[in-house]
Amino acid sequence: MSSFFGIGLAGCGTVGTGVIRALERNGTLIQQRSGADKPLEIRRILVRDAAKARHNSVPQELITTDWQALVHDPEVHIVVELIGGTSLAYDIVAAALKLGKPVVTGNKALLAERGAELFALSQEHNAPIHFEAAVAGGIPIIKTVQEALIGNRIKTMCGIINGTSNYILQRMAEAKLDFGTALEEAQKLGYAEADPTLDVNGWDAAHKAILLATLAYGFPISPSLVHVVGIEQVKPIDIDFAQQLGYVVKLLAVIREHDGGAIELRLQPSFVSKNHILASVNGVFNAVAVHGDGIGEALFYGRGAGEDPTASAVVADLVEAARVLAHQAPHRGFLPWGSEGRLVPVEDTSTAYYVRFDVTDRLGVVAEIATVLAQHGIGISGTHSPVNPENPDADFVDMVFLLHRCPYGVLQAALREIADLNCVNSEPVVFRIEKI
Ligand code: NAP
Ligand code: HSE
Repeated sequence: MSSFFGIGLAGCGTVGTGVIRALERNGTLIQQRSGADKPLEIRRILVRDAAKARHNSVPQELITTDWQALVHDPEVHIVVELIGGTSLAYDIVAAALKLGKPVVTGNKALLAERGAELFALSQEHNAPIHFEAAVAGGIPIIKTVQEALIGNRIKTMCGIINGTSNYILQRMAEAKLDFGTALEEAQKLGYAEADPTLDVNGWDAAHKAILLATLAYGFPISPSLVHVVGIEQVKPIDIDFAQQLGYVVKLLAVIREHDGGAIELRLQPSFVSKNHILASVNGVFNAVAVHGDGIGEALFYGRGAGEDPTASAVVADLVEAARVLAHQAPHRGFLPWGSEGRLVPVEDTSTAYYVRFDVTDRLGVVAEIATVLAQHGIGISGTHSPVNPENPDADFVDMVFLLHRCPYGVLQAALREIADLNCVNSEPVVFRIEKI
């Protein structure tokens, strides 16, 4: 028996560095509070570029570029995967599990895309996967859903679960930054993924929503069945118009149990009423509003990305992994229990909508669009076409329609027809108007 819990830290970027610094700062306190009889100690650190300059807390002598050496090191008892991606990360996690070593990861893409294989390995080798850092950064939402709310049937979970996109939307709204500049800021602050495409196209949040829904409803969810729209198409006009109407634009994850048990799961830019608590979740903050049949409404709020908040979640998992190892306790990894579960097709989900068209401004254009909407039984609650004061006679304008609640499939059918009108110049942009 060694005198420490040895950690193999795969990845020493934003989060990995945060873990090293958190253990350096609070190691003694963590051991005291957890009641463990030995400390957590980092034994090896995997990176891609051994020559890269790193924070001076990073022990250079532990750095390696050989992942196999890290995983197989007998002094590594717990493997922490913080490199990201779904290829090498998969190999590292799978190899650790096969050796019976518990894994801590913050990699939502890996678990959402390949979780079924990894959780099966976890069970086969009795080696847990801990993944608190994978969803909502520092907010302990995984343990909340898995443990604290275990006595509840969860009716809905609606949330803002990508810090980067929330930060971008706020900076566009308040500082009037353009999209690219706001994204650059989020990258510099360590919020964005190594490839920020997943942050802005909605898939980072979708991976997290898949994990939450999987935990709440007990069945694996194929990402290919989830409807995901990112924030790339959000323009200042959308944000301004939302504000005039008493809304804010948020990238919202909606998870809802329907009568009969099917699950609605979707990600889309949404208008949220300024009076709703989620409307005041700004910048890198995340929040998940949960409705359980016992607890009623509950809100979980905190920093959703960045070095220290994410490291906080990783360290909590490390302590849990050490406790399971020390006491050979059964772990609470994901156990599928609802394999018959199914998703509601997005076409059958209903909300009100905001739709922006890029149109050639000529006589009758509003009537042409309105006619098609009426033919599909879709009611209009408002229209708007802001005049550009610098070019009031522009030929091409943005035209916005607010539409009454209808199934998304009905809206799509109408929009396909409208796209064929020769006054409409490109694919319309659709946001949900959520009633949460
Ligand atoms: P990051 O800053 O890009 O760091 C990635 C680390 O992994 C770097 O140390 C890099 O080495 C190493 N690495 C990457 N590819 C490698 C390879 N092929 N071989 C060996 N080492 C490799 O990423 P991060 O922001 O810390 O995120 C890490 C994970 O945590 C991701 O799964 C992310 O989704 C998740 N996460 C991040 C946050 C956040 O706020 N950043 C929050 C929650 C979860 P070099 O240093 O040599 O480049
Ligand atoms: N890129 C992610 C975000 C990191 O911005 O939310 C936290 O998972």
